[in-house]
Amino acid sequence: MNHRQMILLVAGARPNFMKIAPLIHELRAKSHEPRSINVTWKLVHTGQHYDYEMSKVFFKDFDIPKPNFFLNAGSGSHAEQTSRVMLEFEKVCLKEKPDIVVVVGDVNSTLACSVTAKKLTIKVAHVEAGLRSRDMTMPEEINRIVTDSISDFLFVTEKSGAENLLREGKTKKQIHFVGNIMIDTLFYSLKKVASRHAGKPKKTHSMNEKVMGCEPKAVNRDYAVVTLHRPSNVDDREKLGDILSALQTISRDMDIYFPVHPRTEKNIRKFRLKHLTGSLVMLPPQSYIDFLSLWKDAALVLTDSGGLQEETTALGIPCFTVRANTERPVTIEEGTNTLVGTTGKGILKAYRKFKAGKRKNGRVPRLWDGKTAGRIVKVLSGTSARK
Ligand code: UD1
Repeated sequence: MNHRQMILLVAGARPNFMKIAPLIHELRAKSHEPRSINVTWKLVHTGQHYDYEMSKVFFKDFDIPKPNFFLNAGSGSHAEQTSRVMLEFEKVCLKEKPDIVVVVGDVNSTLACSVTAKKLTIKVAHVEAGLRSRDMTMPEEINRIVTDSISDFLFVTEKSGAENLLREGKTKKQIHFVGNIMIDTLFYSLKKVASRHAGKPKKTHSMNEKVMGCEPKAVNRDYAVVTLHRPSNVDDREKLGDILSALQTISRDMDIYFPVHPRTEKNIRKFRLKHLTGSLVMLPPQSYIDFLSLWKDAALVLTDSGGLQEETTALGIPCFTVRANTERPVTIEEGTNTLVGTTGKGILKAYRKFKAGKRKNGRVPRLWDGKTAGRIVKVLSGTSARK
């Protein structure tokens, strides 16, 4: 009889849960099929994110089970956070003896668990491999490069990912172009949203509301949605103030809904910038479903998130990326994404064009079709014939 493969799935921070969920759904579905695959799996939550809105709510939204292991890593400096995950994850690996560890995205947990597993000679699979911003001041870029350099299975979302990996010496055999797993979750969740009223931001937490001092109001037809959390945008008073001032200007034309990340919230308070948020509708972090209900009908999304650049491209919504670079070039070349830089001036220049009707018509990139998890599980369970 064949050896039964044991897979550990790792998630740690908010943008990981939507990438792990489709794999869980697929593995569950396959285990119920008559000729089921010979795979068992367990879920590890590193605890990099721990607040209800940053973590637990996603388990409910995506119908995924409670994790088998919670590592309670919490916040801290990069070294503190990464090392805490490594110490705890090593214990799990030694106990479970997995054949494959699956990591997703580019957060500190991704790096910590891939390195830990590889040093125990466990195979590593990286979902969302090969993306490169070429900006080494981004912690995520370091996480991506290190993780890819030691991964055995490299699952890529777009052509640039495969090209980058080949350039870095990876072989074609290791690289699997499977499409974008986040879009699996997007399609799954759109069905849930369809049964609800669109565009109503729901309060999931009251503390932030008090802190930010704003009440959600009724949504007009034309509105924008903003998210900002990158340290390079929100950890500097002048930079954050400049971006918020530009948003104030745009808010004269349309309502702006702004679910505020904990890092950004802390900094708005610390830098005493609350006066620049008066005309914005500040919301606490939203659940995936609530947030999707909001942005899917927006006229414009402004963000520094990686995932939202892709999700807006998948639904054809104009997106201004408040960054100087992107590791996801297909969203610009084919999608609705525009890099607008990180200054208020840059944001407003792009906004004036948008207002004048010069908007990008995008198309959905190849294999962003909601079936990516199926392709990944096929490869991992050894049932995929290589093309
Ligand atoms: C992390 C990821 C980033 C990802 C982002 C999504 C790294 C290097 N960065 O950045 O790639 O885009 O998550 O959110 O892995 N905090 C809370 N509650 C929580 C979690 C954090 O209040 O549940 C606070 C912490 O006190 C901390 C701040 O938010 O000060 C930032 O959290 P941290 O996990 O360090 O980084 P993110 O900015 O969230």
